[in-house]
Amino acid sequence: MDQLWHKHAIYQIYPRSFCDSNGDGVGDIPGIISKLDYLKDLGVKIIWLSPVYKSPLFDMGYDVADYYAIHEELGTMEDFDRLLAEAKKRDLRIVMDLVVNHTSSAHPWFQAALRGEAPYHDYYVFKKGKKKGVPPNNWTSMFTGPAWEYVPALDEWYLHLYDAAQPDLNWHNPEVLREVENILRFYLDKGVYGFRCDVINQIYKDSYADGKGHAPSGRGIEHYLMTEGNHRILRKLYEDVFSHYPEHVVIGETFNVDIPNGLRFLKENELDMFFTFEHMGVDRRLSGALAKKFKPEALREVLYRYQKEIPWNANYFENHDQHRSVNRFGSLKMHDESAKALAAILLTLKGTPFIYQGQELGMLDAPKKDPATSTDCATLAVYKLTRKMHLPKRFAYRICNRLDRDACRAPMAWDADEKQGFTTAEKAWLPFADDDGTHNVKTEENNANSVLNFYKTLLKLRQNRLELTEGSFDELPSNGSLFAYRRVVDTKAILVLVNLSPKAITLPPYLRHVDGQLLLESNAGSDPARLDGFGVRLLDVGA
Ligand code: GLC
Ligand code: CA
Repeated sequence: MDQLWHKHAIYQIYPRSFCDSNGDGVGDIPGIISKLDYLKDLGVKIIWLSPVYKSPLFDMGYDVADYYAIHEELGTMEDFDRLLAEAKKRDLRIVMDLVVNHTSSAHPWFQAALRGEAPYHDYYVFKKGKKKGVPPNNWTSMFTGPAWEYVPALDEWYLHLYDAAQPDLNWHNPEVLREVENILRFYLDKGVYGFRCDVINQIYKDSYADGKGHAPSGRGIEHYLMTEGNHRILRKLYEDVFSHYPEHVVIGETFNVDIPNGLRFLKENELDMFFTFEHMGVDRRLSGALAKKFKPEALREVLYRYQKEIPWNANYFENHDQHRSVNRFGSLKMHDESAKALAAILLTLKGTPFIYQGQELGMLDAPKKDPATSTDCATLAVYKLTRKMHLPKRFAYRICNRLDRDACRAPMAWDADEKQGFTTAEKAWLPFADDDGTHNVKTEENNANSVLNFYKTLLKLRQNRLELTEGSFDELPSNGSLFAYRRVVDTKAILVLVNLSPKAITLPPYLRHVDGQLLLESNAGSDPARLDGFGVRLLDVGA
């Protein structure tokens, strides 16, 4: 493996749902520590923790009330230090989530700001209304509704691109930059390897002019998405902080990033890699409120475009905001086969693969539920809107169920018992995912053909074959549901063939009887001229 550690696979932990050590129904840091051996054995090298900071959990931790404290349900700072030490023993590194577009409204800075106190009032974006009762502009929040909240005591409005409980920080204020740099140093000095930076391409607002159009969410985005000031701040963070730590990784969550901005993020040392969003839109319309029939060719087109244009990608099919990939791009009837096909693509594309907890088991979404019972603030906001619009209940449910992020946040399945080995509490904090009792760590460890073992094999292959990490991405002509490409380095090449559909396909003539050593096949001994439904074949073909 090349010297750059960040090319290794990254495993995302959603701490509340990973492993509960003390029987209160909520996952915690000691629970994570108890599973480090599992992660080591899986073959990942980096763990990204969704936020573990003190928070009122309005947006499940993406609303930080104290950057220097651990949420009490998750543990203490001592537990966190122990996690770092135990991870280090196993040669695993920890990446934290950095949420600095906004804080929680419970953050002492914001509480002081609400009282009009210096210097904190200037840490946030307070503006006078256009006139009485009218916000400073027409921006809408990402979670729908106006992006401004009125504070009577100040006769001012504050900006919140997300929920009103998540006031935006004012990145025009150098004090905010200084505070964030201190947070970064605090954790880097502890031995944290880096950060996944939440909605990091929206932090710097260019102007506060009205937005165009009528978007129920994100109106005004042209004034704050990937602005020059945004690029400047990321460069400054690199110069002031990251460049002083020889080993580090900065991963951007870059909402609706485009290729030109993405290239700048990488070239100018602003980010080491970034999450793109376009491929997550191939089966949805209207910001996800409506479905669109999934076509493998649409996914292929987007993925290949970024593979060819971006020197190093952050590849993912799942995270805590997205429904499970088997539900979206796979098949419930060919559950394991489709989970494996998706794994094969994820782990052989150029870039760092991100595995979201449970994805390596082929976990599914949790069953649909009454949106009013969701813990997801975005779902609750949309549900409220559908009620206000008097949409028929069935329709409202459908929209909300499609958006509800609780679905992928269901607890991890460690075994087939009633409580999945996740907790001993009467009830876990969220309902469990859909399953027939076979998609859990224990059962899959004992099944040579499981999704879990397929992931392990692929991860091992990826570590042993330079083609898969350092190789170029060479697209091969293909159509329909076939993904065909080569990863090439010097005179070595691996050919990847994946059929992302339940129907068997005949390969194009030039791929039928390829000379080369078979490295991995999902269905051993299958006809070399064909690929079964969701079939996978990897061959060592030389360049
Ligand atoms: C990111 C997070 C998401 C959160 C939002 C606001 O998109 O992934 O969970 O709700 O930012 O912080
Ligand atoms: Ca617990």
